[in-house]
Amino acid sequence: ATAQIGVTGLAVMGSNLARNFARHGHTVALHNRTYAKTEALVGEHGHEGDFVPAESAEDFVAALQKPRRIVIMVKAGDPTDAVIDEFAALLEPGDVIIDGGNAHFADTRRREKALREKGIHFVGAGISGGEEGALNGPAIMPGGSEESYKALGPLLESIAAKAEDGNPCCVHVGPDGAGHFVKMVHNGIEYADMQLIAEAYDLLRNVAGFAPARIAETFRGWNAGRLDSYLIEITAEVLAHTDAATGRPFVDVVADEAEQKGTGRWTVQTALDLGTPVSGIAEAVFARSVSGHRDLREAARELPGPRRAALPDDEAAAFAARVEEALYASKVVSYAQGWNMISAASAEYGWDIDLGAMAAIWRGGCIIRAAFLDRIRSAFAADPALPTLLADKGFAEEVGRAQDAWRSVVTTAVAHGVPTPGFSAALAYYDALRAERLPAALTQGQRDFFGAHTYRRADREGSFHTRWSGERDEERTA
Ligand code: 6PG
Repeated sequence: ATAQIGVTGLAVMGSNLARNFARHGHTVALHNRTYAKTEALVGEHGHEGDFVPAESAEDFVAALQKPRRIVIMVKAGDPTDAVIDEFAALLEPGDVIIDGGNAHFADTRRREKALREKGIHFVGAGISGGEEGALNGPAIMPGGSEESYKALGPLLESIAAKAEDGNPCCVHVGPDGAGHFVKMVHNGIEYADMQLIAEAYDLLRNVAGFAPARIAETFRGWNAGRLDSYLIEITAEVLAHTDAATGRPFVDVVADEAEQKGTGRWTVQTALDLGTPVSGIAEAVFARSVSGHRDLREAARELPGPRRAALPDDEAAAFAARVEEALYASKVVSYAQGWNMISAASAEYGWDIDLGAMAAIWRGGCIIRAAFLDRIRSAFAADPALPTLLADKGFAEEVGRAQDAWRSVVTTAVAHGVPTPGFSAALAYYDALRAERLPAALTQGQRDFFGAHTYRRADREGSFHTRWSGERDEERTA
């Protein structure tokens, strides 16, 4: 046996990962359900490194050095279970199976437990960066046992993206499903970022009256500042692109119905179970869903709106600057929410996730890579127990400075009838956290009135109920 690692499932992501391993000097065993794909990969890219193509699962396993390390890159769900079952039967205790797909962390926990009983390590690894990242350096988020990371870490770190300080964008996240969990939250944050950028675009287009090419320029400018990130960069590219068939801006010929494969939805579903508010991500998922409801949109098309003209040119530039502030402040909120969710899951599942390390590995390779993440890393370095990013001195000051612009942008959006659920929800969250008193007290009163659900008092310990239908006297219930 000569191969240090094997990859099964040679669609684009699998092929690119295999090539990435080979280009870093590892001998890579290759396997695919249909052998033709394996042959095609070797035919086209065999010169890039040492590959061992295997026709059968048995040959593939026999080609691997022990402990055997097999990366599975197949469709999430049943196909993953089928491949795991096939290989588990051929492996020995100490071997490692890595699922590099976007699996649900609950599936990963179940699979890890089942394989652990056979002595086989199962590692759910989040891999971000799309096809290009898989080939040239993704961000990698492996879960699973400490022991599995000893066998796997150096290999994964060798192919991962490198952050600006030279550190690999790969870290052992925590046991069982921790890796796939943080990848899911990464994708949720990705949805939120994309929604906030989309709202900024909509405002620049319909309130500032900018054409797509000018908005592309505006985003390019923002990309040179604190918003410097992959998503802002590609936004400028997309907006500057012209449709060849019609000569119109590309963004005007694409159907305005956003699709999703489901990781953002999983994030929100999971956040509801954990009781962690991720309103930025939720609004982003719902915004995609609203866009896809052609029927509802048709039925509502004639509803009246404010019909305001775009801002005059001399006001538009100042407005655009305020949109940058609103975008930045909203982004801080959605990352704060995402990190709270990771922290809550870490406590719930006993994962002991290093919150600063997540920011560190997302600085490169992944879809949400951004200069900004280094700020989050330092915030947790300064205070590992930071309750919310909004409490970090640096972020608090910046958001504080942005708040007037942020409020003004949301107000203008409402006045012009431009939907900004992301900006608005982020601002509402900010205001809710900083409020001295929340109307939740009234909610508690109502619950006690109609259901005797009891309430706690702000001024003394215990649970209380008021006899609403009687004398309205108060009793202590606990
Ligand atoms: C990544 C991406 C990747 C996937 C997106 C697309 O980190 O490389 O997140 O996993 O392409 O999640 O998701 P939607 O189809 O749901 O937008």
